[in-house]
Order: sequence, then structure tokens, then C-alpha cells
Amino acid sequence: MNNLNLKVDKSKCIKCGKCIDICTNLNIEFDTDKYPRSINNSCFGCQHCMAVCPTGAISVFDKNPDNCAEIKHSVNSDDFMNLVETRRSCRHYKQENVNNEIMYKLKNMLNWVPTGCNFKDLHFSIVENKDRMQEIREKLYKKLRFLLRFIPVNGRLKTYKNAILSGEDMILRNAPHMIVVSTNKKAPCKNIDPIIALSYFELYAQTLGLGTLWCGLAYKTLPLCKDVMRDLDIPKTHNISYVMLFGYPNVTFKRGIQPNYYNISELK
Ligand SMILES: Cc1cc2nc3c(=O)[nH]c(=O)nc-3n(C[C@H](O)[C@H](O)[C@H](O)COP(=O)(O)O)c2cc1C
Repeated sequence: MNNLNLKVDKSKCIKCGKCIDICTNLNIEFDTDKYPRSINNSCFGCQHCMAVCPTGAISVFDKNPDNCAEIKHSVNSDDFMNLVETRRSCRHYKQENVNNEIMYKLKNMLNWVPTGCNFKDLHFSIVENKDRMQEIREKLYKKLRFLLRFIPVNGRLKTYKNAILSGEDMILRNAPHMIVVSTNKKAPCKNIDPIIALSYFELYAQTLGLGTLWCGLAYKTLPLCKDVMRDLDIPKTHNISYVMLFGYPNVTFKRGIQPNYYNISELK
């Protein structure tokens, strides 16, 4: 990212140097009057200089620091832990659209997910209407039922083959919505960024009363159907990276599960 366009409001700047200390790309220094200035083009746009400034003196990319999110830190860690413990995959959905307000919140949240080297070039295709989802479902299964007769399959698809052939939605689980994340082929962390985005999406969605399902089967099978891929409108510069289903859940869990605990090597 070349044009940091670092602007310093000298009436507010207290010359503390916090913006210089925090710049991970060594992109800011004091000028001769001890005000910060940008010195090279290595900025990758994290905006930490603006976020750390105690007086709101720094603007980058023409952004007004007064418009930044307020830090409230109101998330209770016990509540968060309970969310993690009780989050479940949802395979039963109400046949209704998620309301516009919630849909907006979900889409808006995606703008904040972190990416490696701050390479912000994820693309999200979100099926926002259950009728559109049904069209996609029909196209996918038309193709799959044709292919399943001829190509050998293994894993889950093998388990589900007969159910799929007899008309059951073992892949898209009758979900009313789907988010497909695709990633710029040149992104430095292209294997990780989309998964982080969906992890945030999943937890946030659950706080909004939605059910979600990571859908490896959709990730594997959607690309088999060119028609669906066209619908998804994935940029040519991007590859499909993963899929998550979501909607209002039609199942209520009464308790969490009990995990098999991982081994942790405690290096003390
Ligand atoms: C990367 C990933 C891919 C998954 N793909 C599918 C899938 O295609 N279909 C499905 O029914 N569940 C899928 N799941 C859900 C897992 O089967 C589920 O996490 C597991 O059954 C444990 O249930 P829980 O998520 O409620 O703890 C996937 C989960 C993950 C993390």
C-alpha cells in the first residue's frame, strides 16, 4: 500500500512518538520539529498509528480518527468461553430468511477480520435469500446426481451418495443462506485468511442467534458446477476458499458437549 497519506494535526500532536514505536513497517519518524512524518512506502495499511495516538492527531488514508470504533472492552470472558463451549454445528434450519438488520451486521463485521500482511483482498459471496439458495441447491444436485453415477467418490460423499441420489440435501442441509469466501491468489496468507474470516463469522453469527455450519462438502462440490460458480460471482483473481451455511436454527441444544482434550506441550 503506497499512499499512507499520513497527516498530523499539529494542534493535537503531543510528540509522544507512539505512532513511530507502533509502526511495524518502520514507516514513520520524527521530523526536525519532532512531529511524526512518513518516510517510505512500506506501509501495509494497518492504521495502528492512528489507533494508538492518545490525542487523535493522526489521520491516514484520509480517515478521520474521530470516526474510529470506540474501545469498550465489554466482552465478558466467561460469556465468550461459554459461547465457544456451547457453539454447535447446525444442520437444521428454519425455512426463513435472516432479517436485514442481522444480515447487515454480519456483512459489516467481515470488514474487520485480520489478514496476513494486512493483505485485504478477500471476497465474500453471500446468498441472502432462501429462494436464491434453492436455485443454487437445485443446480448443484442436478450436476451431482449426474456425476455421482460415473465418478468414484470417497469419504463423506461416499457415505451420503445414496441419500443424495434419493433427493436428500446432505450437503447444503436445507440452509437458507450460505457464505462463500474466496481469496486473492496472490495473498501471502491465502490458506489462513479465509478461515479466520469464517471463524469470526461463525462466532458472531451465533451471538446473533443464528446457527452455522462449516461446509467442506459444499467447498468440494460447488466448483463441480460451473453454473453455480458463475452465480457466486467470484473474481477471476480469486480462488474459492471455504463455505459456511447459516440461518435461524431449527434445533435447540440443551447443554454443551464434553471434548476430548488435546495434548498441550507446556514449555515452562
Ligand atoms: C473445516 C470443517 C468442515 C466441515 N464440513 C462439514 C460438512 O461438509 N458437512 C457437515 O455436516 N459438517 C461439517 N463440519 C462440521 C463438523 O462435522 C462438526 O464440527 C463436528 O461434527 C463437531 O460438531 P460441532 O461443530 O457441533 O462441535 C465441518 C467442520 C469443519 C471445522
